[in-house]
Amino acid sequence: MTKKLHIKTYGCQMNVYDSARLAELLAPQGYALSDDAEGADLVVLNTCHIREKAAEKVYSELGRLRQRQDERAAAGGELRIAVAGCVAQAEGPEIMRRAPFVAAVVGPQSYHRLPAMLAGAPGAVATEFPAAEKFAALARQPTRPAASAFLTVQEGCDKFCTFCVVPYTRGSEFSRPAADLLAEAERLVAIGAREVTLLGQNVNAWHGAGPDGAPWTLGRLIRALAALPGLERLRYMTSHPLEMDDDLIAAHAEVPQLMPFLHLPVQSGSDRILRAMNRRHDADAYRRIIDRLRAAQPDLALSSDFIVGFPGETDADHKATLALIRDVGFAQAFSFKYSPRPGTPAATIEQQVPDHVMTARLAELQALVMRQQLAFNRACVGRTMDVLIDRPGKRPGQWIGKSPYMQSVVVDGPADWQGHLVETFIVDGYQNSLNGRVHGAASAAAA
Ligand code: 5AD
Ligand code: SF4
Repeated sequence: MTKKLHIKTYGCQMNVYDSARLAELLAPQGYALSDDAEGADLVVLNTCHIREKAAEKVYSELGRLRQRQDERAAAGGELRIAVAGCVAQAEGPEIMRRAPFVAAVVGPQSYHRLPAMLAGAPGAVATEFPAAEKFAALARQPTRPAASAFLTVQEGCDKFCTFCVVPYTRGSEFSRPAADLLAEAERLVAIGAREVTLLGQNVNAWHGAGPDGAPWTLGRLIRALAALPGLERLRYMTSHPLEMDDDLIAAHAEVPQLMPFLHLPVQSGSDRILRAMNRRHDADAYRRIIDRLRAAQPDLALSSDFIVGFPGETDADHKATLALIRDVGFAQAFSFKYSPRPGTPAATIEQQVPDHVMTARLAELQALVMRQQLAFNRACVGRTMDVLIDRPGKRPGQWIGKSPYMQSVVVDGPADWQGHLVETFIVDGYQNSLNGRVHGAASAAAA
């Protein structure tokens, strides 16, 4: 009998990738994935621990699920609950203590064990880091992806930025073998992907022996992937400035499939704060990397992450961040108030910045980034670009797709446009989207 599986995914794209793999791992046990939790036999919370009260959110969600579990039991059924992801890794035994009704807890490198754990005694916790074993256990037949698919190539982090919990929750840097990645990408394209986004906490630290035996870095892998017939767009995220090597920069000039958009977090524009964050480069080093990237690909649009209110951040530090944003010019950016993560070095620094100061700095930084984003979107008006249609719009006959620069573009088109790549004339540019008019399909969707 098929059982209903619901996975609630929090956080980053890698969790989205992991949730899809979890569903594939559970399918042989008769679980069919469902978008809604109503009537589910198994609910998996795939959690994130990067900022704010992530763990508390998980405990309150677990409280709600417990009620459902009781209701199901009263009706003679059973609802099983599992917790995966980075909160599972950080809080494993604590979750079992506070929520003993949970059937299993699995960390990001041990989730391949979930099917066996569910078949065994309840209450098991798996938080080891067997990354290679996990990838080897994943299904060889991925479920049909959207036109744009994710592919985890690298996982974990050895950088130990002093604010960040990732090195503790995802473990140390691990690169998947090139041959496995080429095979997975080929399978994705065969079942309908036209765009593949390579994922990794330090994706540009990916390295390994190529099928030719030579040592490959990410630039070489991108070139090999670009040679796969039918793979029309490539992206990669998230990168660290220290790992932006010459070959990867050259790939931006030489590989037409590599989209002219790069998410390259800098976190702060103050050298003092960058040092305290253990980022291991200064603000000018970041500016120089951007210059080299733009020399290779003048059309490159940039995105970044910023943290305001890192402990000890002064007004002068904050102004240095605003100056860097003005110098670089971003097409979009994500910005966050610093949030102390238990177990990280920065959490113990005494000079924490008061919340009202963080609020004011965040508002100022976001206003600047919003102006840059609007200017970038408006500058696209009058241009023609390929848009990869990925979901229906609000009105019938309306579609939303992604530009090469990751903007959402709204167009009118026929009912069968899902997954098409269409040449689009940009008519309007707004804060968060573009409006386009389509001349004709650039190429037909893969079957
Ligand atoms: N507080 C605030 N933001 C954080 N990030 C990571 N850790 C923290 C933290 N403790 C942000 C960084 C990172 C992004 C994924 O989340 O900007 O690049
Ligand atoms: Fe966290 Fe820094 Fe590693 Fe990025 S590079 S995952 S911010 S420790």
